[in-house]
Order: sequence, then structure tokens, then C-alpha cells
Amino acid sequence: MLDCHTHVLPGLDDGAPDIDAGLALCRRLHELGVDQVVATPHWCSPRFAVEDEGIARAWSSLTTRVAAEVPGLRLVLGSEHHCSGLQDPSAFVASLHPFTGSRCVLIELPDDHLPASTWPSLFAVSRAGFRAILAHPERCKGLAAGSDGLAAFTDAGGLLQLTLGHLIGTHGFAMRWRSRRLLARYPRSCIIASDSHDLNIRRPRWDQLPGKWRHLVPADLAALERWGG
Ligand SMILES: [Fe+2]
Repeated sequence: MLDCHTHVLPGLDDGAPDIDAGLALCRRLHELGVDQVVATPHWCSPRFAVEDEGIARAWSSLTTRVAAEVPGLRLVLGSEHHCSGLQDPSAFVASLHPFTGSRCVLIELPDDHLPASTWPSLFAVSRAGFRAILAHPERCKGLAAGSDGLAAFTDAGGLLQLTLGHLIGTHGFAMRWRSRRLLARYPRSCIIASDSHDLNIRRPRWDQLPGKWRHLVPADLAALERWGG
């Protein structure tokens, strides 16, 4: 089972604060049946100053510990790329950090509005040969479930990553309602990931995944690549 949105890399953002916390989160994911984890630190986010050098250091330290202590778990490096609207579409594409060995790239929108450049940027991502995955679109208040842009995005192969904690209601009624509405409207374009940050309120909740949604979790990176095809 693949979890394509996690904050296991230590010391970069609001995810694991240190290597022991990152390792504990990896160990817990593996206990819950996950055998492939994409590490998706925030990238280009106005909230965090994450740089390539920091990612490389965190990646090196965590993969070393995981190989020794959670040997059944495969880590893949990706990012959660913020689409702030401050970049033109071609600059946005040039700054992407897709999942290693894959054309998939995870992109988050601001929570409070939909940037004017969102759709031109996302379609530029598709034209460049990447597969865009919107991280927790249920959180973006400016994104209407029935909008023309969202319909065109999913028609073009774009995916919607719904967060398990939102779907099952652990983050409030509004998130539950918005995520389930997206799932009802775009069932072939939705996948589920944990967006886990810690072992507390934002812990991985794969033990609470209802059986009816098990088919929305990709088995591995290859399955994610061909999702809906
Ligand atoms: Fe995230």
C-alpha cells in the first residue's frame, strides 16, 4: 500500500521535528500496512523556508535509519509543492519536484482562496508531461466542487488526493462534507493519503480506513501513475 502524502522528513516543516520522530512515524505507517511512503516536505510554501540542502540532509539521515530499522518500508522522495499564484506557469513547471522515478507531482493550493494562476499552472504541468495531484483540495475554500476548472483538470488526468482524516471526520464536519462531496463528484479521480505529520492529532489513520474506500489507495507508485487509465 502506498501513502503518497506524508511529512516524515525531519526538521523541515510542521512534520516530524527530529530524526527519532520521523523514524517513529515511518515505523507506525509500516505497522498499519503501508510499504511505500512518499516523503512530501512543503516546497515553495510561504509558511516554511525549505531548501534543497535541508531536504538532502533529512533524506539521507532518515533513509539510513529506515533501512536499518524498518527494512520493509520503501521511501520515495517527493514534495508538496505550493501553488501560490506568484509564479507564471512556465516558472512553476520549472520548479517542480516530482516523486522520484515518477511523473507524479503533489501540488497544494492555499486554504483561503484560489490563485488566479491555478488552472494555467496546472494545465502547464500536464502539458509538460507530469501528472498533477492536488493535495487535499477539500481544504481550499476557493475551489468549488462543480467548477469548470476542476472538471477540466480531472478530465485531463489530474488527480484529487483526499486526506483520510478529513473523510472520516476527525478534522471536523466541514472537511468531512467537502471531501466526501469531491469523492461523490469525481470518484475515478480521487485517491486517499494520510498527510500524516506526527503520532498525535495528525497521525496516520490507516487503521480507520473504511473497507468501502480501500480501492482508493494506490498499491504502489506504478498504480498511482496509471490511476484511472
Ligand atoms: Fe501535507
